[in-house]
Amino acid sequence: MAAERLLKVENLTLVLKTREGEIVPVREVSFTLGKGETVGLVGESGSGKTLTGLSLLGLFPPGARIAGGKILFDGEDLLTLPESRLQTLRGQKVSMVFQEPQSALNPVLTVETQMREIYQSHTSLSREEIGQRILDGLRAAGLPDPLTVSRSYPHQLSGGMRQRVMIAMALALDPLLVIADEPTTALDPTVALQILALLARIRQRSGQSLLFISHDLSHVRRVSDRVLLMYAGRIVEEAPSARFFSHGPRHPYGRALLASRPEGGIRTRREAPLSAIGGQVPPLWDLPPGCSFAPRCSRADSLCTSTLPSWNGGEGERVFCHHPDDSPLGAPVHAA
Ligand SMILES: Nc1ncnc2c1ncn2[C@@H]1O[C@H](COP(=O)(O)OP(=O)(O)O)[C@@H](O)[C@H]1O
Ligand code: SF4
Ligand SMILES: [Mg+2]
Repeated sequence: MAAERLLKVENLTLVLKTREGEIVPVREVSFTLGKGETVGLVGESGSGKTLTGLSLLGLFPPGARIAGGKILFDGEDLLTLPESRLQTLRGQKVSMVFQEPQSALNPVLTVETQMREIYQSHTSLSREEIGQRILDGLRAAGLPDPLTVSRSYPHQLSGGMRQRVMIAMALALDPLLVIADEPTTALDPTVALQILALLARIRQRSGQSLLFISHDLSHVRRVSDRVLLMYAGRIVEEAPSARFFSHGPRHPYGRALLASRPEGGIRTRREAPLSAIGGQVPPLWDLPPGCSFAPRCSRADSLCTSTLPSWNGGEGERVFCHHPDDSPLGAPVHAA
């Protein structure tokens, strides 16, 4: 990876108190993100993607505690910063686009009021300058009539327009890192494609990095330079997109996910995307010994069911598996 490093997550482990007892939804997670790079974090629902993304903003649900690790972001360890410093960083240096824009936007305030608040709390721009920035930002997010949109309340906009507003808000302060958590999942397929195209354009903006979180490999393929595959709280494979999608994932879970894609289609959550993989993600409070994927893995043997795998490969291209699959894919899989 030639890009200068922006983010380095080292052995991040998050423990969460739940009714079933303590779970570890994020376990020894390590990865890096270069300046201007887009990395796709992919895995089934419940694998720990959102909690990993929120950790990068220093946001943790009640009952969560960091049991270990570091998050080095632009020279600072986020886990040791006071809340006041984290609040400054949020928006200014790191921002997040959520899956459901309607719940992330305030329903009783116009788009303009909500965007104005971002600039007022983080900059000393004049009223007029802020007004201009809002219109420019909405236009850059692909909203052709920014004035009307800025005067609208969220419920007056379509789902796709709301997501564009969320993206404009996330980009308002020109952050170094944008985390997009399933930004297309709640949208119709055509609108989802437009939002993916917008995100792909964002990645071309100099210096801006994107962590793109999705359960759908076809979406990840469209926008990501690299792929992080997550299963039951762990990253289990890290690979350049080109290798991951042309030669094929080395982790059997990645192979199964890729095989579960419908031919040539782009999916939404409503279409039960990952049902083609047999079995279920094990509950986090009752993980099997050895490899967590073993109960669903066609390559599993007694080593897998008894012993935790170790990393195979080096930084940027590695797999957490006893028996990685190195056979080439039968046929190249093209983006939907
Ligand atoms: N606030 C919470 N309270 C209890 N459990 C949670 C909470 N948030 C997430 N979890 C659990 O942590 C695991 C990982 O969640 P999450 O990061 O949301 O996964 P993903 O985004 O990959 O679907 C899941 O098993 C989920 O049920
Ligand atoms: S370690 Fe074994 S069970 Fe786990 S993914 Fe690899 S081959 Fe499958
Ligand atoms: Mg999630």
